[in-house]
Amino acid sequence: MSLPVPSTTAPSAADTVTHPARAVVDLSAIRHNLGVLAAAAPGAQVMAVVKADAYGHGLLPVARAALAGGASWLGVAQLAEALELRAGLDAASTGTSAAALAGTAADGTAAAVRPRILTWLFAPGAPLGRALEADLDLSASAPWAVEEIAAAARATGRTARVHLKVDTGMGRGGARPEAFGDLLDAASRARAEGTVDVVGIWSHLACADEPDSPVTAQQTAVFAAALEQAERAGVRPEVRHLAASSGTLFHPSTHFDLVRPGIAVYGLTPAPGIAGSAQLGLRPAMRLEARLTVVKPAPAGTPLSYGHTARTTTDTYIAVVPLGYGDGVPRAASDRGPVTVAGRRLHVAGRVCMDQVVVDLGPRGAGVREGDVAVLFGDGAAEPSADDWAEACGTINYEIVTRLGARVPRVHVDPEARP
Ligand SMILES: Cc1ncc(COP(=O)(O)O)c(C=O)c1O
Repeated sequence: MSLPVPSTTAPSAADTVTHPARAVVDLSAIRHNLGVLAAAAPGAQVMAVVKADAYGHGLLPVARAALAGGASWLGVAQLAEALELRAGLDAASTGTSAAALAGTAADGTAAAVRPRILTWLFAPGAPLGRALEADLDLSASAPWAVEEIAAAARATGRTARVHLKVDTGMGRGGARPEAFGDLLDAASRARAEGTVDVVGIWSHLACADEPDSPVTAQQTAVFAAALEQAERAGVRPEVRHLAASSGTLFHPSTHFDLVRPGIAVYGLTPAPGIAGSAQLGLRPAMRLEARLTVVKPAPAGTPLSYGHTARTTTDTYIAVVPLGYGDGVPRAASDRGPVTVAGRRLHVAGRVCMDQVVVDLGPRGAGVREGDVAVLFGDGAAEPSADDWAEACGTINYEIVTRLGARVPRVHVDPEARP
């Protein structure tokens, strides 16, 4: 084997101090995507769903960018996420007192309004008093939840803002339609004692990413019936909401007063079978990249990585990309996950390890150096997309970005920031 050994080079643009990989998150793309979503649902408010660390993109920077982009609500699943979000946003509002954030400054003038935060997953016994003190909106799917919220309101002296959830056909959270009357009754009792305001009625769509499915229309009809039932019970919520990204982008009849997009906020299509990100006008916000730690020649027939599932077929160069399943790279990407190095589309060769993957650079790899940047996914044009990874791994783009581990530094950039 006579291939020369490439030498190392100076640090590249992806230089990081303690981890040779990073996820670069473009906050201007987040703002742009909010604009696309708002335009898709004119007349509706937008709740940016930022659960699971903003789908792996970094909770607080993304939440702030989403608000700057036009979201007036933020949504998270778990109470802990909501508390972290409120504390982080409040801390960033330097010089703004809690009273001012609540809507009225000490001198009586209008003041900065705190963004509304809805949280919808908690089990009995959760510290709901803390939720009320943090000015969170809470979801209730059953009478026990309303009763616990009311008890927390009594204990804290606050009135709770509650969104009643109806299961219109998702078959997950929410009161089934035949039990919605009981939920309304519990809410009406709490309203009567002044502990609860029913500010929302909501549900979630199961098949909005399948254009031909009749389920979306069926769920919308069940939702409309639940709204009428609430109206008859004297409950008139401030917001009715049903649509996530697919509903927002593909089903205008599901928009109501508020839409709750998640994946599209991050520039990823909720339905690659219907339209890709670019077709929808969305800009993927995250690029996962790493600096090569090893580049070396490998003769034809060299076995690669654990289990020797791959072998080089020619005299070639191989490179080590320092990202593995310990960083959230799915092991299912073994032998297939796409990787771009020096503008060339390659793929993972052999098994994904905990901390690294191997890429066969081919005989032309002679020009590649340690420290050069490999991109696993990014814009979906010159770089592979999260959808390419999802397809390679038999999963969805949601899982590709959300499972990215805490070990990978998130670097937030804002190329279109106003000076
Ligand atoms: C209740 C609820 N609303 C909205 C969303 C956002 O969904 P998507 O990411 O498909 O827009 C989710 C995410 O799963 C959700 O659970």
